[in-house]
Amino acid sequence: MYKRLLVTGGMGFIGSNFIRHILSRHGDVEIVNLDKLTYAGNPGNLEGVESKMLRFVKGEVCDREVVDRLVSDCEAVVHFAAETHVDRSIAYAGDFVSTDVFGTFILLEAARRHKTKRFVHISTDEVYGEAVGSPSKETDALMPKSPYAASKAGADRLAFSYYCTYDLPVIITRCTNNYGPYQYPEKLIPLFVTNAIEDKPLPVYGTGKNSRDWIFVKDHCQAIETILDSEGQEGEVFNIGSGEERSILDIASLVLSALGKDDDLVEFVPDRPGHVRRHAVDTRKIRERLGWKAAHSFDSAMRKTVEWYRDNEKWWRPIKSGEFRKYYEQHYAQGS
Ligand code: NAD
Ligand code: TYD
Repeated sequence: MYKRLLVTGGMGFIGSNFIRHILSRHGDVEIVNLDKLTYAGNPGNLEGVESKMLRFVKGEVCDREVVDRLVSDCEAVVHFAAETHVDRSIAYAGDFVSTDVFGTFILLEAARRHKTKRFVHISTDEVYGEAVGSPSKETDALMPKSPYAASKAGADRLAFSYYCTYDLPVIITRCTNNYGPYQYPEKLIPLFVTNAIEDKPLPVYGTGKNSRDWIFVKDHCQAIETILDSEGQEGEVFNIGSGEERSILDIASLVLSALGKDDDLVEFVPDRPGHVRRHAVDTRKIRERLGWKAAHSFDSAMRKTVEWYRDNEKWWRPIKSGEFRKYYEQHYAQGS
């Protein structure tokens, strides 16, 4: 394991879980967490983490000077920072192009200048667009359907180009939908769980039949650690997923039954424009080359996740009463 890591976006959902994961497994790894603290960045996501090995820098990935200084001082970069919500990208595409594409460019440039030993670029399975027929393979064409997915596709291929052109040791991950503790409650699972706890409607887009492959965030973090530690995989792309495909309606009924709530909380709302019917990835490459596979079953990890939100109201209630409330009222009043 590299001893000095720069993690971007470590105050977000997956980044904070990743920092917890690494600190709990390696006493000798120093982490610098660069995060702008957008609406989605929350210092509460790292509450209780008391480590001399972790340093937080509030800053912007598009800021050349800050990025240059931090990259010069680390061995490896794990780049999570991004605007991440598809619905918001429909309303504010520019923020996504700026952070997801340009911010990645600034980081790659600094990594090239300072000869960073490993650059793990956290991409997404959204870059494939629809998984038609069989699950998406790493070699499939990229056909992103939302401004979020398209910005991530731009960043994904830019990272690859730095491997091809400058020999930067980049590895790209494309993971499916994550769930678990500390996920901002605009995303499906924490939104449904917290709405159900509050006896509010669960807004189901369109028919509710669109499906995703759902992975527990701790499995994703383990996959990233495996990739950081791997040898001879520079320039490669790895899909990460669990194979646990569920529709929106499946998620709604699971959440309602776990919380003992009535099915009439389900509310059908207008569909999302450009809504991808199915995301699912083929994970043969990471399983066969690196020996990683998801360790958690969907049913038990989802049960734990529902319990976590039930037991941690003090984490999500302030979010749902602040900036999120304005967004929610606007977004769901207009339909999507
Ligand atoms: P998130 O929205 O919870 O967190 C994003 C973090 O990035 C926040 O802390 C935010 O403050 C920070 N950030 C945003 N813009 C920034 C900027 N300009 N400079 C510095 N920091 C900035 O996102 P997440 O769900 O944790 O996703 C993390 C990464 O994983 C993203 O790159 C995302 O595309 C990718 N991903 C997410 C999923 C998923 O299901 N959530 C699946 C696959 C891939
Ligand atoms: P989301 O969590 O936004 O992730 P993504 O769009 O990146 O897959 O949405 C997951 C699925 O849930 C997607 O099919 C859209 C659907 N969805 C709803 O039906 N209602 C909602 O309120 C939200 C936020 C999502």
